[in-house]
Amino acid sequence: MKLTDEEQAMLAGAQGPAVKRAIDIVATLGRVFGADELIPVASVQVAGVSYRNLGDAGLGFLQDWASEGARVRVPTTLNPAGMDPAQWQRQGFSSLSAEKQGQVISAYQAMGIEPICTCTPYLFGNLPSYGEHLAWSESSAVAYANSVLGAHTNREGGPGALAAAICGRTACYGLHKPENRQATHKVDVRCRVSEPYEFAALGYLAGKLVGDGIPLFTGLDLPAITLDDSHTVVVTADESDKCKLLGAALASSGAVALYHIRGVTPEVRQRSDLCPPNIKAITINSLHEALAELNHPVEKIDLVVIGCPHASLAEIEEVARLLRGKHLASALWVTTSRAARATAIAPGWVQDIEAAGGLVIAEGCVVVAPMNELPYRTLATNSAKMASYALPHAGLQVRFGALEECTQAALSGRWGKD
Ligand code: F3S
Repeated sequence: MKLTDEEQAMLAGAQGPAVKRAIDIVATLGRVFGADELIPVASVQVAGVSYRNLGDAGLGFLQDWASEGARVRVPTTLNPAGMDPAQWQRQGFSSLSAEKQGQVISAYQAMGIEPICTCTPYLFGNLPSYGEHLAWSESSAVAYANSVLGAHTNREGGPGALAAAICGRTACYGLHKPENRQATHKVDVRCRVSEPYEFAALGYLAGKLVGDGIPLFTGLDLPAITLDDSHTVVVTADESDKCKLLGAALASSGAVALYHIRGVTPEVRQRSDLCPPNIKAITINSLHEALAELNHPVEKIDLVVIGCPHASLAEIEEVARLLRGKHLASALWVTTSRAARATAIAPGWVQDIEAAGGLVIAEGCVVVAPMNELPYRTLATNSAKMASYALPHAGLQVRFGALEECTQAALSGRWGKD
């Protein structure tokens, strides 16, 4: 692999042991994946934040690297944690879990990372431009960044992303190369896909069919995503939410890191070479199979979760509108970023949701939370990713449907009943 003089010096330890370790990880990954050079990254998003997943070994690894002098050199954000650091008691988690979770965040802060813990950094604070090279880890954010924003990132593992933040570079392979961004499957959608949860169901089905391929969807009725003068995409809140749910599901039932939508996503509108001839063709005639697989036979709903990936302002507003002046029979969490929660206070949306008995949780995620500490056994959600992860990762039986169906379940305590 060709390294610049500065990169060779980093590798020789000229910038200290923490940087040497970081560039060693990045260069080793590059060699494994056949990269011939390293490239600078504009921003990094690091997974591996939940103490429940990291354990003491992972926490120790982070603390060691921080005390070795590791400091990030590009804007870096974190994935969600296991709980809201300001509201873990309201969620019902133990002080032991909260303390350990706090130690993980502190280790990242010691490396100069602002503790912004979200899987939707692109909604608040870090909107990458078209063509920018990133090192992001969260699979749904990777799918959004590549597909909707036209940025270039592989799906990094947690240590690989952190290493990229510390040395400011990633290895140039995979989706960083334009020639690797061509579609591998043409997915012709012939059924109605119009509500956000239907995009999630479509992603679940297509992800199972294409695996780690790159689907090109046809037949989806969405407005074209355009670029402004600074090469940043212009996308409506409604379309953004739909694409967010689609990509999250594609990346969970499959390992899709990039999708195209004919006539819609920016890259397929800029490049004419993204759909080579003779790629595999798939037709989707119905979402029925997804709806059947994502709905377990449970009626009583203990917890409703909206915000996987983290809720946008439009979703928070919608939940507030549906719950205003009402009282919940089940627990309801809207999981979102700290910035979105703060913004949703001014118009009273957080207050509407919390007056009904729900919580607007900042920086947390049910899938990586110590849910065994809580009494919930069943969950309803509008996210196909959450629906497919809830049982294996959090031990919760699920119901999956439209956001309105989910809030209705929270009000009645039952799925499908008023
Ligand atoms: Fe985000 Fe957790 Fe869902 S990280 S995408 S809320 S599983």
